[in-house]
Amino acid sequence: MNVAIYLDNSATTKPHPQVIEAMLSLLQENYGNPSSLHTIGQRAERVVTKARRDLAGVLGVKEKEIIFTSGGTESNNMALQGVVRAYGNRGRHIITSRIEHPSILEVFKELEDRGFRATYLEVDGDGRITPDRLAKALEPETILVSLFHVNNEIGSINPLPELAQVVAQGGRQRPFFHVDAVQSFGKLPLKPAKWGIDLVSISGHKIHGPKGTGALYLREGLAIPPLLLGGGQEGGLRSGTENVVGIGGLGLAALLAEEEREGALPKVAKLRRVFLEGLEGSSYRLNSPDGGSPYILNLSFPGYRGEVLVHALAEKGVYVSTGSACSSRAHKQSHVLESLGLSPEEIAGAIRVSFSRTNSPEEAQRAGKILAGVAAELGEFMG
Ligand SMILES: Cc1ncc(COP(=O)(O)O)c(C=O)c1O
Repeated sequence: MNVAIYLDNSATTKPHPQVIEAMLSLLQENYGNPSSLHTIGQRAERVVTKARRDLAGVLGVKEKEIIFTSGGTESNNMALQGVVRAYGNRGRHIITSRIEHPSILEVFKELEDRGFRATYLEVDGDGRITPDRLAKALEPETILVSLFHVNNEIGSINPLPELAQVVAQGGRQRPFFHVDAVQSFGKLPLKPAKWGIDLVSISGHKIHGPKGTGALYLREGLAIPPLLLGGGQEGGLRSGTENVVGIGGLGLAALLAEEEREGALPKVAKLRRVFLEGLEGSSYRLNSPDGGSPYILNLSFPGYRGEVLVHALAEKGVYVSTGSACSSRAHKQSHVLESLGLSPEEIAGAIRVSFSRTNSPEEAQRAGKILAGVAAELGEFMG
């Protein structure tokens, strides 16, 4: 019998039923333009104001520090391009890690073309940037440090409060610290203002919210230029009529995720455990570090091809991915696993299983068993 077990939640999540309901009602009944002066416009504006308040509350920051965007990619671009355009005259050195999402690495490459010097930090054996390593890379010329909170392929967690302290002591003038929190927001504690982080990117569709929604936390006092010019929405930082329905959905998804965040952690850790129990007897390499995010599990089956495993699993109704969703379509070898020092065989045979608080332990265990069966079948076929 074919089951449908969705374990590709780091690629995207299924929208929460309450989010769908709220968005449907907004679409049908709250169609005004928040910039319009009349009551229909004001009602739409209230949706945006409430979502901003809710997101600010979840992050422990001020409402005016939240800018709504179309997602993690746009937030990352706005943050990095904005900081270098505004503060590039202070210095020409920027720092990130080797295992960031392409929406960071591609911007860094472009900034190098524009004459900035970039340092790409190597991660330790657990896929993290240590404060030590960051301290050594900082120079008087450094103006920007951009690091992930949770890595999207292996789930390693960077020690943000400690890294923020190191950033605060670097540079001729304190460099700006940007964090890509797309894989941690709504899942792990994240307090940018308290921890000393200047900019944070988040995305709606990773937390059971709608696709095409996201936000950037921009610390008060930072003045960056907009990527989009026009009507001056979002405090002039992101022109264009607000995506009221999406913003409302994002605000609600963030509230729901935050309400369930603490309780979800042990639940998701159990999903991971029972998945691995289901896999007992198979021979694989665990690529995710101990102490990483329980939401992401990366495994290698050396000698196999990750995409073959993914397709064979999908035929049995289990949905996972190879590495990240974007690199799996591009058929590029994972730069993350390469950085961890895995062999080409281990990289080729890697899959990523990513959980959600909505998965059940029965699903996780069953998926583990199905993967064990698929690996055994393919193993026999391969001889
Ligand atoms: C770490 C990380 N950053 C950024 C993004 C891009 O987010 P979005 O899909 O909302 O543009 C992703 C999406 O996979 C991600 O995992």
